[in-house]
Amino acid sequence: MTEVVHYEVRQHVAVVTLDNPPVNALSVGKGVLQGILDHVKAAEHDPDVRLILLIGAGRNFSGGADITEFGKPPVPGMATLRDVLAYLDTVTKPIAAAIAGPTMGGGLELALGAHWRCALTGAQIGLPEVKLGILPGAGGTQRLPRLIGVEAALPMIVGGDPVTTERALELGIVDDIVTGDLRAAAVAWAAKLVKDGRASVRRASAMAAALPDGVEADAFFAQARERVAKEWRGYPAPLECVACVEAAVKQPFAAGLRFERERFEHLVATDESRALRHAFFAERAAGKVDGLPDDTPVRSIRSVAVIGAGTMGGGIAMNFVNVGIPVKLVERAPDALQRGLATIAKNYAATVAKGRLAQDEMDRRMALLTPVDDIAQLGDVDLVVEAVFEEMEVKQAIFRALDAVAKPAAILATNTSTLDIDAIAAVTQRPGDVIGLHFFSPANVMKLLEIVRGARTAPDVIATAMKLAKTIRKVGVLVGVCDGFVGNRMVAAYFREAAFLLEEGASPQQVDRALEAFGFAMGPFRVGDLAGLDIGWAIRKRQAATRDPNERYAAAADRLCEAGRFGQKTGAGWYRYEPGRRDPIPDPEVDAIIVQTAAEAGIARREIGDAEIVERCVLQLVNVGAELLDEGVAQRASDIDIVYLFGYGFPRYRGGPMFHADLVGLPNVVAAMERYRASVGAWWTPAAGLARRAAEGGRFGG
Ligand code: 3HC
Repeated sequence: MTEVVHYEVRQHVAVVTLDNPPVNALSVGKGVLQGILDHVKAAEHDPDVRLILLIGAGRNFSGGADITEFGKPPVPGMATLRDVLAYLDTVTKPIAAAIAGPTMGGGLELALGAHWRCALTGAQIGLPEVKLGILPGAGGTQRLPRLIGVEAALPMIVGGDPVTTERALELGIVDDIVTGDLRAAAVAWAAKLVKDGRASVRRASAMAAALPDGVEADAFFAQARERVAKEWRGYPAPLECVACVEAAVKQPFAAGLRFERERFEHLVATDESRALRHAFFAERAAGKVDGLPDDTPVRSIRSVAVIGAGTMGGGIAMNFVNVGIPVKLVERAPDALQRGLATIAKNYAATVAKGRLAQDEMDRRMALLTPVDDIAQLGDVDLVVEAVFEEMEVKQAIFRALDAVAKPAAILATNTSTLDIDAIAAVTQRPGDVIGLHFFSPANVMKLLEIVRGARTAPDVIATAMKLAKTIRKVGVLVGVCDGFVGNRMVAAYFREAAFLLEEGASPQQVDRALEAFGFAMGPFRVGDLAGLDIGWAIRKRQAATRDPNERYAAAADRLCEAGRFGQKTGAGWYRYEPGRRDPIPDPEVDAIIVQTAAEAGIARREIGDAEIVERCVLQLVNVGAELLDEGVAQRASDIDIVYLFGYGFPRYRGGPMFHADLVGLPNVVAAMERYRASVGAWWTPAAGLARRAAEGGRFGG
């Protein structure tokens, strides 16, 4: 077994080095914690040692407990993090920790078990457990409030966001900042602590968790609970975090620790925590492309052109200039080009006004934008993203022009959300360089980027696009060509089912309320009103000629549009809106349209329960997701979950539609679908892969 913890004594400092790449996770099974315990014990008994220094090899101290070990049985004979921390609290020599890079969760808790801490500049220091649906379970909720006070500790524990080295110094998490080579600097710092006689034993566990002067504990925590319950609807962990910090204030250390442990054990077994852990690993898996070797070369993207200065094109351009990549913004009509630039400037100015962007940074970004009125001027850019009207002929004409001017090895991308990338690539002499980059609106905000590989897209173009997603801080998911790709193809089935539910007896507000209670950021009809109902209407009118007349078709949305109800922008859609207010108001006119269209379709309306609404809408997502896996459009089920978490407001604490189906149990999913097939219609036939997995007792898995 490779040694995962090293030990050496330098200048009377026992240096205990964690060496478990890539992030020095505190693995029980690999013996990281046992190694720390053994070496600290040796140091405690070594007369030459005057201080024990914990440090990480590589770029960081520790990314925390090994998340892959959660829910697994204990490993006999191997120390846990709690064992290590309990022992540290008995050590009679001063202990120091050298924090660097991401120092997270159990990693920070280990450092909090030391008596002195230095941190290298550039570290990220935090307790992100709450993001995994748990809480710091190795004393973090008890030691941090004791060390830095309750007011500063609570948001770190409840919110889970890391702080910088400098902020950690201000807060009192670290005692000193070091720079340069971590190991040399930290050993020198520790040796100086000893030499100066500063090094004492000061255990956080022996301190009191203080509230600000004059603040009464019960009132403080009641307020915190109220705030957290509102902000974290559906998430069980944040409220438990508050309870643990309260215990740090009100109970002795040992009792607080026991309480924390019990709440941790409870949370780790919840579906929400399993879902959030799934989301963590799914996000990382999404960055990997099956069959694409790690050493696939990537092309360098130092300049970009975006064709189309509308809402989408402008938002796309912002992503690149935000990270310092210059963009040529292309639009033939000068007024449209100026309007596009003005919209971008307005967006940035709003962020500046909120104090979230400095004016000079806005100026720097705007200066990276060059307005261009002719594709002929794109001969020097590394990447072109076409974001014009969703019309095949228009896009093909642009790609023909690009093919003639773009330099060799430039990547030619389309932002199409529905069209066949291969048909676009086919008009060029370089289909290998063509790829889809499907941004989601608003493109400067939404984290999801569907990266659509065509049949002939070159491997290095795919690798470049995956890397580019990270550069522009998006979550890139690789998908294949089909109508709507992953996200929009699934959402079409979801919207369609929601519309059928209206015909059968539900109201828009009931459907929205039920799905929002499930955890969606917004129900489908509120989403429709926000996005504008005219877009879907235009598409449906184009498709009308090819529609199968025997297929069920919900006509209410068309009727709304015929009545000029395009959503929020016209003051009416599925709801009515009053000037200056965004909250939707249920509208009897809409109810009348729904009743009318149901009668025309010969559908008898009935009472529909919220559970049926949620089940039908979500299982439609699951079934289309299963089809996409069957067809190979999605690489893996967890990628579909990521598309839904980052692009469609699916509640993260439910892990995504495919994970949700696994939790429900695939035989139960199939049984529900068979019921709906009998009672509602033939479109409820389970996809082949779903039926197969259910029959075999399988899951969608990762
Ligand atoms: N356990 C197991 N694996 C981990 C891990 C952890 N704590 N942290 C990271 N990894 C793995 C990742 O899955 C990834 O694996 P892969 O290469 O096979 O996909 C690899 O390490 C590298 O991770 P990233 O790609 O995320 O690397 P980055 O450099 O982008 O980020 C990081 C590093 C900031 C540490 C980030 O990985 C992270 O946020 N990790 C999780 C931190 C966390 O939540 N810690 C708390 C754990 S729970 C805990 O400590 C419980 C305790 O209170 C008892």
